[in-house]
Amino acid sequence: MSTMAEDTPLAGKVAYVTGAARGQGRSHCIRLARAGADIVAIDACAPVAEHNGYPPALPEDLAETVSLVEGEGRKIRAEEVDVRDLDGQQRVVSDAIEQFGRLDIVVANAGVLNWGRLWEISAQQFQEVVDTNLTGVWNTIKAVVPAMIEAGNGGSIINISSAAGIKAVPGCGHYCASKFGVVALTNSLAVELGEFGIRVNSVHPYGTDTPMGNDASMWQMFADHQNFIHSFSPGALPTDSLAAPDLVSDIVLWLASDASSLVTAAQIPADKGYLKI
Ligand SMILES: NC(=O)c1ccc[n+]([C@@H]2O[C@H](COP(=O)([O-])OP(=O)(O)OC[C@H]3O[C@@H](n4cnc5c(N)ncnc54)[C@H](O)[C@@H]3O)[C@@H](O)[C@H]2O)c1
Repeated sequence: MSTMAEDTPLAGKVAYVTGAARGQGRSHCIRLARAGADIVAIDACAPVAEHNGYPPALPEDLAETVSLVEGEGRKIRAEEVDVRDLDGQQRVVSDAIEQFGRLDIVVANAGVLNWGRLWEISAQQFQEVVDTNLTGVWNTIKAVVPAMIEAGNGGSIINISSAAGIKAVPGCGHYCASKFGVVALTNSLAVELGEFGIRVNSVHPYGTDTPMGNDASMWQMFADHQNFIHSFSPGALPTDSLAAPDLVSDIVLWLASDASSLVTAAQIPADKGYLKI
């Protein structure tokens, strides 16, 4: 039989999650809330890049996250803020500190993906992906770290990169560049924040069952450039579908909790062994 502390390892803690309206971000909010944390959630809830082959999240998606977290019996503060908006993130964090008094866990999850060969995409397509996936994560770091240091409770920052942040893949080189950049932010920040007891790690999902993971425009890229398919193996474990987002949330919860207290500056794969193939 499990004890209360085992069921709610994050009791009394507060988690800030970006890209929280749907997909993996929503799943992380629910899982962290179930483990006892109150949640601060942001999402653009609007189109974030012109060239995307899958639909944007909507305000009603974020509202659904709110009701699911409340269904876990936890408090949630949710706002429509784009991660590219540094002032907006700093305002949300400041309001959250006023409401909850602390910030312990950060999941920098917001991201966008679209397809095209590096010399064929436009400057705008390149910039939109880098601005959200890389500068957006730096904006989150800039917004949360002073409040975490000030609170003096240590903490855990979890940056959501991608398998494409470790292994270069063709057809989305701009996305790869942004996700490799997240690794650099993660590891430099982990060294800078060690003295404050704040751990920083990155998670590297492969195909995950969300609107991004089901982007049909990827198939056109494979049809046009069939040799690219060799860079997308199914992974080592038996696979008949994309991974469920809550399997990535298992890893996020572990990194958020004291169960991973020795782990910082690490890249944790969520890839069924894909990166080794
Ligand atoms: N789905 C996959 O196969 C996969 C694989 C590897 C990594 N990832 C990464 O996982 C993370 C979550 O993606 P997902 O699969 O849940 O996709 P998703 O599209 O379902 O959800 C992403 C969420 O982030 C939000 N978002 C995007 N840009 C934003 C911005 N500029 N400001 C605020 N919010 C923004 C979206 O509105 C959306 O709600 C992303 O960082 C993604 O790159 C996904």
